[in-house]
Amino acid sequence: MSQPVERKAVLDALNAIRDPRSGRGLVEAGLVQGLVARDGRAGFMMEVEPGQAQLYAAVRDQAEAALKALPGVERAQVVLTADRAPAAGAPSSAHAHAQDHDHEPPVPPGTVRMRRGARLSADAQAQVMPPEQRPAPGLKPAHVAHVIAVASGKGGVGKSTVAVNLAAALAMLGKRTGLLDADVYGPSVPRMTGLDQEPGVTPERKLIPLRGWGLKVMSIGLLVDEASPMIWRGPMASSALNQMLNDVAWGSESEPLDILVVDMPPGTGDIQLTLAQRVALSGAVVVSTPQEVALIDARRAVAMFEKTHIPILGVVENMAFFTDPTTGAPIEIFGRGGARAVAETLKAPFLGEIPIEVALRQACDAGRPFVVDHPDSPAAQAFLAIAEAVAAQLDAGGELKPPPRIVFED
Ligand SMILES: Nc1ncnc2c1ncn2[C@@H]1O[C@H](COP(=O)(O)OP(=O)(O)OP(=O)(O)O)[C@@H](O)[C@H]1O
Ligand SMILES: [Mg+2]
Repeated sequence: MSQPVERKAVLDALNAIRDPRSGRGLVEAGLVQGLVARDGRAGFMMEVEPGQAQLYAAVRDQAEAALKALPGVERAQVVLTADRAPAAGAPSSAHAHAQDHDHEPPVPPGTVRMRRGARLSADAQAQVMPPEQRPAPGLKPAHVAHVIAVASGKGGVGKSTVAVNLAAALAMLGKRTGLLDADVYGPSVPRMTGLDQEPGVTPERKLIPLRGWGLKVMSIGLLVDEASPMIWRGPMASSALNQMLNDVAWGSESEPLDILVVDMPPGTGDIQLTLAQRVALSGAVVVSTPQEVALIDARRAVAMFEKTHIPILGVVENMAFFTDPTTGAPIEIFGRGGARAVAETLKAPFLGEIPIEVALRQACDAGRPFVVDHPDSPAAQAFLAIAEAVAAQLDAGGELKPPPRIVFED
C-alpha cells in the first residue's frame, strides 16, 4: 500500500507556486479549493476569473507536477475553472469553508473538502472535459429536449422526494428521463434511488449517468463525501452545476433525453440563478407544504423564476394530509389546500397534492422510488397525474405560458 499523503506537504508545495497575478502562494491567494489529499491521490479545484483560463493553464500544469512529485502521490489532478465573478485570490466569504473533523491542519478560507476516497476516480476526473472546451452558456445539454427544475423556497418540503418520483413517473409514462441532483448543500438522490456507484466516462470524456428505475441519474453527491460538511461558496457550486449539466452524457444522437428533471437545493441562491441563466429551462415545478411559512417561501421561489422568465409548470402540495389508518379519514396535519390557493393567486397550474405516507418515507430511505414500488397507492397516483400534467405542458412546447407578473409588498 502506498504511503499516506501528507496534507501539510501538499499545502506547502502548492504555496511554493506563485499566483501570477497577486504574486502570493497559491494557497494564500485562495486558489486552492476542494483539496483532496489521501489514498495516493491529490487534487483541487482552481477557480479563476473568466478570461484568465489561459494564464492559469500553466499554473495548473505546474501545480499538478508539484503534486505528482510529492511522496505518496500517485495521481494528481487540478481542475481549472473560469466561471467565477469575483477577483481571483479574493474568496468571497471567509466563513464559507469546511471545517476539518479529523485533526488535520485547518484549511484556508474558500476550501472545500471533497469526498473521502472520492467515488469519481482521478482517472475518470482526468478524462472529464476541460472547462475551456465546454459548450457556451445559455444552452441545453446536448440531445436533451427539456430541462425542468423542481424547486422550493423552504427546505425539507419534499423537493427531492417529488423530483425522484416525478422523474420515475415520467419514465413510467414512456418519457426518456434523466434526474440531476443539483443540491450541492445536501445531495439526497443517491440515497433515494440507491444509485451511488462511480460513473464511467465516454470516449468523448463525458461522465456516464447511472441507470436505474428507467432513469439516467447523476448527482453532485457522487463527487463529494456524503459525510463531509457541504459548505460551498456560490461560484464553486455554480461551477459544479455547470459540470453536471455539460460534462455528463445525458443524451446521444441515438438515444436523446426527453426530459431532464433537476432536483434543486432549497432557496433562491447561486445554483438557482446559474440554472436560470445558463440553461434554457423549459419550466419549474414548485413544491410546498400547506404550512403558511412554506407557502410564503413558495411564492418567493415562483417570483425568482418569474424574474428570470422561466415558466412555472405548476405548484405541488406535498404532505397535504394523512389518512387515518383506522377510520380512513384524512387528517390535515399541516393544514390543506394552501398551495392550491397560492397557485390560483399566482395563476400557475396546481399540479396536485401528495399525502403523507409512511411507506413513501420508507421508500426514500430504502433507495427505491415509491411510485415504482406502489404504483396503485394514492401518493403514486398523485405523482403519475403530476407527471402527466407536466409532460402535457412540455409536449405542448411553444404554448408554455410565461409566468404571471408578481409584485411583493415587503
Ligand atoms: N409525502 C410524504 N410522506 C412522507 N414522508 C415524506 C413525504 N414527502 C417527503 N417526505 C420525507 O420528508 C423528508 C424530507 O423530504 P425531502 O428530502 O424530499 O425534502 P427536500 O425539500 O428535498 O429537502 P432539502 O431542502 O433538504 O433538499 C424525507 O425524509 C422524505 O422521505
Ligand atoms: Mg432535497
